[in-house]
Amino acid sequence: MAQDYTAYRDKVNVYLASALPSSSENHFRRLYEAMDYSLQAGGKRIRPVLMQLAYESVGGKEDISKFLCAIEMIHTYSLIHDDLPAMDNDDYRRGKLTNHKKFDEATAILAGDALLTEAFNLMLEDALISEDMSKVRAAHVLSLASGAEGMVGGQILDMASENKKISIEALELIHLNKTGALLAAATKMGAILGHGTAMEIAALEAYGRYIGKVFQIIDDVLDETSTIEELGKTIQSDSKNHKTTYLSFYTVEECYKIAQDLTEKAIKVLEHIDGDTQLLKEIAVKLITRRN
Ligand code: IPE
Ligand code: IPE
Ligand code: MG
Ligand code: MG
Ligand code: MG
Repeated sequence: MAQDYTAYRDKVNVYLASALPSSSENHFRRLYEAMDYSLQAGGKRIRPVLMQLAYESVGGKEDISKFLCAIEMIHTYSLIHDDLPAMDNDDYRRGKLTNHKKFDEATAILAGDALLTEAFNLMLEDALISEDMSKVRAAHVLSLASGAEGMVGGQILDMASENKKISIEALELIHLNKTGALLAAATKMGAILGHGTAMEIAALEAYGRYIGKVFQIIDDVLDETSTIEELGKTIQSDSKNHKTTYLSFYTVEECYKIAQDLTEKAIKVLEHIDGDTQLLKEIAVKLITRRN
């Protein structure tokens, strides 16, 4: 990813490093250790980076670190639960053992629960202190995107589709929710927190939806074509679980072509933003050829 991307990601990592209380000082030590294990394990931090960039593109200049940490905590919880034996049953994530392999299933479930809850604690505490309604609005957007009408809804459709032949429309609904919802929430929240206009908020949300689609198409391709070393997570998990993916309908080349078309749409919609969207454009392009 672009050099600038790395700088943004590193900043997110600094915020995340102090987002949770130090586990050794706390009665709930094992829980915090498990939460911290997955949160600090690495990852691209694409959702918080996109939120920060969307925020800056509409003129935001304050510190929105609580919101950056919140979306990454929710994403991390979704990964911990996604890897559980009852779901995708995978052993590797972010270059390390999955949470339930490192700890145990009960701890992994509870670490996920606590990361989800802590995300709302962080956002609402910040909103209460600043009395800024845009912060309440942003937290509301994240609650919708994370729940039954968003990521969790997508995950249940994904699970229900195992061992079945589903239509491309059904697959797109899964992608839109399980992955697209959080990516679109990231950019929409950035625009809201930065007090963007209705047009800017809609445009940045649309950008998030387009690249959300690209993101999951490439995730499906990499699951089949990458290596565990490069990807940092279990490969061929989808075929193991008899999932329907983009590769059930299209060849790898066709997937890249579809991703290219969606990326052009994502870039086009950014024309509605007057501020600097250069890095948002670069990220959209880089997502097509990402290797992890
Ligand atoms: C993986 O997300 C799960 C999907 C929604 C496809 P990422 O590819 O963003 O995972 P990390 O955060 O970089 O580990
Ligand atoms: C899961 O999609 C998306 C989430 C909400 C976590 P996948 O099951 O394809 O994600 P990976 O490939 O395990 O990261
Ligand atoms: Mg899954
Ligand atoms: Mg999975
Ligand atoms: Mg996958």
